[in-house]
Amino acid sequence: MHVHKYEKLWLALSLVLILAFIATVTYGAVGAGVSMVADDEEPVNPDTLGDHPQFGEPGVEQVGENEYEAYVIAEQFEFTPDPIVVPEHSTVTFYVTSPDVIHGFGVVGTNANTMVIPGEVAKITVETDEPREFGIVCNEYCGAAHHAMEGKLVVVP
Ligand code: CUA
Repeated sequence: MHVHKYEKLWLALSLVLILAFIATVTYGAVGAGVSMVADDEEPVNPDTLGDHPQFGEPGVEQVGENEYEAYVIAEQFEFTPDPIVVPEHSTVTFYVTSPDVIHGFGVVGTNANTMVIPGEVAKITVETDEPREFGIVCNEYCGAAHHAMEGKLVVVP
């Protein structure tokens, strides 16, 4: 009887597949040379941002002595709020999302840059120094006026 032999083969094959699946889930991006270390922000519904406790009224709020959170919406073809005003010598965490298409959020002249995906919240933290102004640009092609999608980050005394 050959049936028994094939059954064993199938069993072995499915075990291999299960292990391969687990490995893929566990080590997903390693083979590509990158690995995501954190993506712990809750998803948001891009269609109802207006009802969101923070994104409904995007802006900067103080959360500690020198700590601030800035909720920002990137959409065709602007950033809200604009300008984003934050105090000097503070830690600012930006939470950025989009109601329409993929955008970028980059602070010109710094390494602060992230992709902004509808339904997801991009999070980056920066330390501010002396008062000055920075441009904010969109680094992802998002439509006809992509090149004109600019904002301002103002660090104030
Ligand atoms: Cu938004 Cu390019």
